Amino acid sequence: MGREFLGIFTDWADSYDSFVEGHDPEYKEVFTGYESILAEVVRRSGKHVLEFGIGTGNLTALLLGAGKNVFAVEPSAQMRQVAARKLGNGFAIHDGDLMSFPQPPKPIDTIVCTFVFHHLTDAEKQEAAFKYAGLLPTGGKIIFADTMFLSPKIHQDTIEKARCQGFHGLADDLGREYYPQITYLKDSFENAGFFVRFSQCNEFAWILEATKK
Ligand SMILES: C[S@@+](CC[C@H](N)C(=O)[O-])C[C@H]1O[C@@H](n2cnc3c(N)ncnc32)[C@H](O)[C@@H]1O
Repeated sequence: MGREFLGIFTDWADSYDSFVEGHDPEYKEVFTGYESILAEVVRRSGKHVLEFGIGTGNLTALLLGAGKNVFAVEPSAQMRQVAARKLGNGFAIHDGDLMSFPQPPKPIDTIVCTFVFHHLTDAEKQEAAFKYAGLLPTGGKIIFADTMFLSPKIHQDTIEKARCQGFHGLADDLGREYYPQITYLKDSFENAGFFVRFSQCNEFAWILEATKK
């Protein structure tokens, strides 16, 4: 579920890496510090990791390079193709999404994703939090980096600022997809039995770290 935006990634797969490198002015700030955001997710991860929405495989490559075992899930066939070129054909990338995915064959201690969780509606985010709690042991972690907002007003102001800058693609994106409010995420993961903390990475991106109690 949450696959309603997949068409965007069909068209985006081949040029995605140039966006995260900051070559598109509309998304430059969204992806400011991208490499260090991914490095921080890796630093906080355990040894056995489930990753959703691997895209072109940038985080996956860092996790593997740090000696982690990664069960990789990505719903877009085009993204899987680009990631396979980066990660090698021997590395398995599973077709699945944040809500519906193959069961990892071995126990996991961490669930990660970067710039993905906003594809779920708020109701789906809550459902996902309960689902992930069922996959993790006590002390297991969820580490999600994504665009998030401290309040609906800040979200709205950010859309208006993008319009004033002539960034209409970004403004439309911020209004169309389900970018979360931090308080909603906190409540959702606490309801599902997690201790939750957040850290801000740039004007858009935050890291949510939820530890199962
Ligand atoms: C903005 S890209 C992020 C890619 C990568 N995680 C990164 O940090 O560069 C979003 C990725 O999420 C995938 N995606 C879209 N909807 C999804 C869903 N419901 N579940 C899992 N992945 C999804 C897209 O195909 C795309 O690869």
